[in-house]
Amino acid sequence: MNIGVVSKGLILLGVSFLMLTGAKGQDEEKKMLDESSRLCAQCHGNHYYTFHNSYTEMDTRKRMNPYFFIDTTKYVEAIHSFFACQDCHSSEYETYPHPSELKLEPKYGCIDCHGGDDTFAKYQFDDIEVEVDNSVHKLAHMDQFKCEMCHDLHSYKLTARNENSSIKEIVVENNHMCLSCHNNLSKYQILTDHQKPELLKTHDWLPNQALHFLSVRCIECHTPTSDTLMVSHKILPKEQAVHLCSDCHSTNSILRTKLYKYHVEESRVDQGYYNAVILNEAYVIGANRNRYLNLLSLLFFGLALSGIGIHIVARIIKKK
Ligand code: HEC
Ligand code: HEC
Ligand code: HEC
Ligand code: HEC
Ligand code: HEC
Ligand code: HEC
Ligand code: HEC
Repeated sequence: MNIGVVSKGLILLGVSFLMLTGAKGQDEEKKMLDESSRLCAQCHGNHYYTFHNSYTEMDTRKRMNPYFFIDTTKYVEAIHSFFACQDCHSSEYETYPHPSELKLEPKYGCIDCHGGDDTFAKYQFDDIEVEVDNSVHKLAHMDQFKCEMCHDLHSYKLTARNENSSIKEIVVENNHMCLSCHNNLSKYQILTDHQKPELLKTHDWLPNQALHFLSVRCIECHTPTSDTLMVSHKILPKEQAVHLCSDCHSTNSILRTKLYKYHVEESRVDQGYYNAVILNEAYVIGANRNRYLNLLSLLFFGLALSGIGIHIVARIIKKK
């Protein structure tokens, strides 16, 4: 037997063993960075990094630029965590110092990968893109404003659609997308030199603002109601924002078609409550009403009316 064949056989055996254990490992340690990304994470996953300086022949330790820090705990939870860093970034990043022309490398956006693809039809990427194109941000800042300004690809996960996430979680995650910029001057001013409006002041007409900002999302008030999209992406000019308390605090609350959309659709069928979800998760004054309580109050009203009727009749008979 020829040694080449034996070694090829051994290699094949080895590869299939690796594939088997690899597949098993995937289930058990799903939340791990792959080998090649771990190289990047050695530096980008920490606030300090070390490299060998070939000029001085010394190991040097430096601080990582905080904007280039990637939180690996969030990365492995994100929906694109199956990607290695080099799937989106050039493999030339493996050398350090990184070649300077890599700064010019164009980066993939959502639509580059998801545009016009039927696999993702349920997420309606193309409709979302149209909405974003017509939102205040895009109109004011043209192509500077990209999806990634709200959706950090290194941490983005679905919360609104995820039935396991609580309303509070959805609100915090989604509002963070806006506040990461509207509360952060350095990010805000990537787009404009204008002074950033003070959100607390702009919204001081809203009582108990802190509670409201923890209970509803910015987009509840700043986007139109959408019949087709899970999350409307069309941020309207401020003059068109929701200002009326009764838009939320009423039985016909807009929250049913926005924040509570997914949950309401699921529970509408089998619950005897109006806005059952709202009852379960928060008490929104005016929005909570129980159908049976409504019937009961009608019944009492009817009883009271007939009581009065009987009383009048009785008095008439007595008078005669
Ligand atoms: C030895 C540490 C180290 C390693 C390993 C490393 N980086 Fe970096 N990277 C840095 C530092 C420091 C910067 C900040 C800019 C600079 O000094 O070049 C940076 C910058 C970047 C940037 C931003 C470039 C820009 O200016 O726009 C990207 C993207 C990047 N790295 C990706 C990667 C990827 C992907 C990997 C793995 C293949 C990787 N890096 C591995 C240290 C490292
Ligand atoms: C699905 C694609 C994708 C994957 C996977 C990905 N990135 Fe990125 N990365 C991007 C995009 C797009 C940007 C630009 C974001 C922006 O412009 O706001 C970016 C920006 C960066 C930056 C900052 C550069 C800057 O201009 O702000 C660093 C550093 C970086 N990525 C490192 C990594 C590392 C390390 C990994 C792996 C752990 C990784 N990326 C995985 C798409 C990806
Ligand atoms: C480099 C290509 C690439 C980029 C850039 C990219 N995606 Fe993806 N995305 C994918 C692939 C591949 C999948 C996985 C498809 C699968 O699971 O079959 C995916 C999955 C998804 C899913 C479905 C997750 C699920 O569990 O059903 C959503 C939602 C999504 N991406 C949103 C986005 C958004 C928003 C952006 C931009 C901020 C973006 N993607 C950018 C390639 C990409
Ligand atoms: C102004 C901020 C913002 C911008 C810009 C933005 N998004 Fe979103 N997007 C959100 C928020 C908030 C959600 C809700 C996230 C969640 O909880 O799942 C969301 C959700 C999504 C979802 C999931 C919808 C679903 O059905 O569950 C997709 C897909 C998406 N965005 C794609 C895009 C694309 C593509 C772009 C760029 C054309 C974009 N987004 C730009 C804020 C933004
Ligand atoms: C209850 C409804 C509501 C909620 C929730 C809400 N807003 Fe507003 N917002 C408004 C209204 C109404 C205005 C217009 C106020 C005015 O012009 O007097 C406004 C104004 C603004 C402005 C314009 C400020 C200016 O002075 O130019 C910004 C920016 C803004 N909101 C961002 C946000 C962000 C970010 C969030 C989430 C943290 C949010 N809003 C939550 C209703 C709301
Ligand atoms: C990357 C930064 C960034 C993010 C993320 C962002 N915004 Fe803005 N937003 C801006 C800038 C810059 C302006 C000022 C636009 C201009 O120059 O007129 C603005 C303006 C606004 C306005 C005022 C429009 C007007 O009529 O004056 C509203 C309302 C608003 N944003 C809401 C939101 C909401 C809601 C989100 C999250 C879903 C969000 N923004 C996410 C940067 C951002
Ligand atoms: C976008 C929807 C929305 C709008 C608009 C809105 N609210 Fe609310 N409000 C809520 C939700 C949701 C809660 C429930 C908070 C909780 O208990 O979790 C709430 C709670 C409250 C509370 C109870 C606070 C407490 O201390 O327990 C008061 C009072 C209130 N809102 C008054 C108002 C008034 C007055 C306005 C108009 C100026 C208004 N709200 C506009 C959604 C809204």
